[in-house]
Amino acid sequence: MRTLIKNIKELVQVERQPKLRVCGKDMAQMETVKNAYLIVEDDKIAAFGPMSELKEQTFDKEVDATGRMVLPSFCDSHTHLVYAGSREIEYIDKIRGLSYDEIAKRGGGILNSAKRVQEASEQQLYDDAMARLEQIIRFGTGAVEIKSGYGMTPEAELKMLRVIRRLKENSPLTIKSTLLGAHGIPMEYRGRQEKFVDLVIEQMIPQAAAEGLADYIDVFCDAGFFTVEDTERMLEAGARYGMRPKIHANEMACSGGIQCAVKYNALSCDHLEYTGEEEIQCLLGSETMPTVLPGAAFFLNMQHAPVRRMMEAGLPVAMASDYNPGSSPSGNMQLIVSFACVNYRMLSEEAINATTINSGYAMGVSNELGSIAVGKRANFYITTPIPTYEYLPYAYGENKVARTFLNGKEV
Ligand code: NIG
Ligand code: FE
Repeated sequence: MRTLIKNIKELVQVERQPKLRVCGKDMAQMETVKNAYLIVEDDKIAAFGPMSELKEQTFDKEVDATGRMVLPSFCDSHTHLVYAGSREIEYIDKIRGLSYDEIAKRGGGILNSAKRVQEASEQQLYDDAMARLEQIIRFGTGAVEIKSGYGMTPEAELKMLRVIRRLKENSPLTIKSTLLGAHGIPMEYRGRQEKFVDLVIEQMIPQAAAEGLADYIDVFCDAGFFTVEDTERMLEAGARYGMRPKIHANEMACSGGIQCAVKYNALSCDHLEYTGEEEIQCLLGSETMPTVLPGAAFFLNMQHAPVRRMMEAGLPVAMASDYNPGSSPSGNMQLIVSFACVNYRMLSEEAINATTINSGYAMGVSNELGSIAVGKRANFYITTPIPTYEYLPYAYGENKVARTFLNGKEV
């Protein structure tokens, strides 16, 4: 099957020599081709270039993209989109001034979602998550990482991971799964959380590994949650089963989480509101992708990670949605691009790099996704008619994605 997309106003984020990630000042660079064509063969990108160089040939399908741009699909490297119910009442409580602790005492927070996930059937979780996947496809996402973490018991964590496996089998999205056994501390383990860590190590990790359910392992390593010592124990256990870490760190405090991520060669460390010079120096020269979650910082009205300073120091930065019912109930990556520009003063090029190639790196798929390059998987979208690519972050709240192709097929 050969498809031609022709008369593309601007083909954005093309690479002739594909890189796995872009760092520092290179994040402001992004190559495009104006008045371009794109040829797809089966599920791969076969060729691209200016229309003036398109040779006479036949195709099974032709799409005229006059006035429209084409971009590689977003890679959303951090989500918790398997969950049951929603938490809007708790969000209103927060607006009324209730603290995190007061909300937790009323049965809110992560434990609220855990209770609902424990009670939900696997089918219900699957149906709800599949509907969310269909929604994020319409907003331009082509790859997504999904975490467990609302199970809190070995049974419920495994149930979540099996749901993610079924999503992988049935969705056209590229999906990576992460075991987040240590997301919160169940009530019955308060004051003896090392016992809960034992449960993660002795049951959740080996059971998930036995069924091949987890690509990565995550821990909420932060003040009030899991300590660096807890985290190290769990990451060592995960490493014995080949699970590379992608951890939550430094959302609440300079908790040592970033140093821990680098020490265990994590693929990414995520959130990073509390990142100082020491953390930046530690990340430099590592293979760990610093990942910022602008949706959570927006929704919780948190201080912002020092993204400009990180890029000036030479670090790469990725951005993801953190789609979850508590701190970021949206998986719309176009909004993340707008937040990147408004709240972190990123340029459009930096924001697009952060949400495609670098977030692809943060979920281990940037060798085959995250840019328009020959041989890469054909995951891209055609925009509505737009004047410039800077219009993408500028027109926040508007869906600029008109048509989506995943694995070379229109969805
Ligand atoms: O990534 N920070 C930890 N976990 C989630 C929030 C989970 C929740 O409130 O349900 C996050 O923001
Ligand atoms: Fe998260």
